[in-house]
Amino acid sequence: MIKTITILGGHGRDGQREPVEQIELKMGDVASIVGPTGSGKTTLINDIELFANANTPTGRRILINGQVAPAEYRDNPARNPIALITQHTTFLADLPVNEFLTTHARIRTTDHSQVDALVGKALSFANQLTGEPILVHSRMTELSGGQTRALLIADATIICNTPIVLLDEVENAGIHRTRALELLRQYQKIFIFVTHDPRIALLSDYRIVIGGGSMTQVLHTDEHERACSVRVSRLDDLLSGLRDRIRIGGRLTAEMMEEFS
Ligand SMILES: Nc1ncnc2c1ncn2[C@@H]1O[C@H](COP(=O)(O)OP(=O)(O)OP(=O)(O)O)[C@@H](O)[C@H]1O
Ligand SMILES: [Mg+2]
Repeated sequence: MIKTITILGGHGRDGQREPVEQIELKMGDVASIVGPTGSGKTTLINDIELFANANTPTGRRILINGQVAPAEYRDNPARNPIALITQHTTFLADLPVNEFLTTHARIRTTDHSQVDALVGKALSFANQLTGEPILVHSRMTELSGGQTRALLIADATIICNTPIVLLDEVENAGIHRTRALELLRQYQKIFIFVTHDPRIALLSDYRIVIGGGSMTQVLHTDEHERACSVRVSRLDDLLSGLRDRIRIGGRLTAEMMEEFS
């Protein structure tokens, strides 16, 4: 049973020790990683995924339940407690969607009578995040970037069912990102999102701030920010409405802009 992940600080790009020396993430936590482009956000989630043990360029160490991760986490894909959904997804084998999901489900579940149900659940989860539904017989490489990301999130959450899910920039894929967060919140896991999106950052319990390759701060979303997040969400919904209009070939009008003031 995984209860906690601990990140022990290493050093930033300048070789100095990181200001944040230790962060403990508990089961059920939703955390964001924020920071400028090129600051080292992906590097931090890669450290977590690799169970870094002072053997990556950052010198960080990752503990699971306070201990160095057992070697089987790395060596046996069925035992790895971490699913990482990366910024770039070009590594996929070119299987039809249902075969991809079924293969994973067979590896992950001992009860094979559950496989079809799991695959169906994962597909419906993914299709709640995409504009155009994913068809089971399409090949993985035919899916759009957003559809691929939605499918991988569903696969990680429902089929692989790993206790720890790392997501690099969910917003860039053009999927319904707040819907994704709502759906994910129903699962008891540790979620870590790299994000540039204030709405996602405020929906998280806390955010790890990265600068110059270092973890510089950990900010908990306090009551003042929770109050701000209502307005941030409203602005974001308005902006999403405009985005959807543009997507379907609509035009914007001056009246639509008035809603923002
Ligand atoms: N602590 C560190 N020590 C040395 N190099 C680092 C460190 N952290 C990050 N880097 C290097 O900095 C570069 C940029 O890092 P990274 O790709 O993680 O940035 P990012 O914040 O994910 O950027 P983006 O927003 O563009 O995705 C990489 O080459 C990475 O290896
Ligand atoms: Mg990155």
